[in-house]
Amino acid sequence: MSDEKFIDTGLKILKYPNPVLKKMSEPVEIFDDELAEFVQKLFLTMRASNGVGLAAPQVGISKRVAVVEYDDKSYVLVNPRLISTEGEQEGEEGCLSFPGIYANLKRPLKVKIEAQDVKGNFNTYEGEGYTARAFLHEMDHLDGRVFIDYLSNMKRGAIKKKLAKNTGGHF
Ligand code: NI
Repeated sequence: MSDEKFIDTGLKILKYPNPVLKKMSEPVEIFDDELAEFVQKLFLTMRASNGVGLAAPQVGISKRVAVVEYDDKSYVLVNPRLISTEGEQEGEEGCLSFPGIYANLKRPLKVKIEAQDVKGNFNTYEGEGYTARAFLHEMDHLDGRVFIDYLSNMKRGAIKKKLAKNTGGHF
């Protein structure tokens, strides 16, 4: 267990159906220390929850910022943009904003994206398999889209019911 688990980043992961998760995020225009610090906090919060990705809207910030960490590689995605996709894969997907919920989802097999880092430099990343899935999942969050939006009405309804049961809340 890593000590990072006990660092309080001050960020709290919002759970669906928090309305921030449905909002379109704003582009980042200022690349300052505050942004760098926020990105570090996103990584820490993601790791503490054993996630492979976390997007700013999931902690209540409607900015186009996300992080992905998979296969010992870390990616900072500021203002990410999809360049191209290739092929198709089907696999299980989950989300830190949907604890305990997993669904089978079709996604492109490979993606090429462009994103800025905390200093505003542009980088191009190619992802395949689970990395591609993680990039697309996090980029969806920035457009107010969550993974259950891809499911049939029936499957989505069943998940909402399960979540309502888990939290004792109503939809
Ligand atoms: Ni997610």
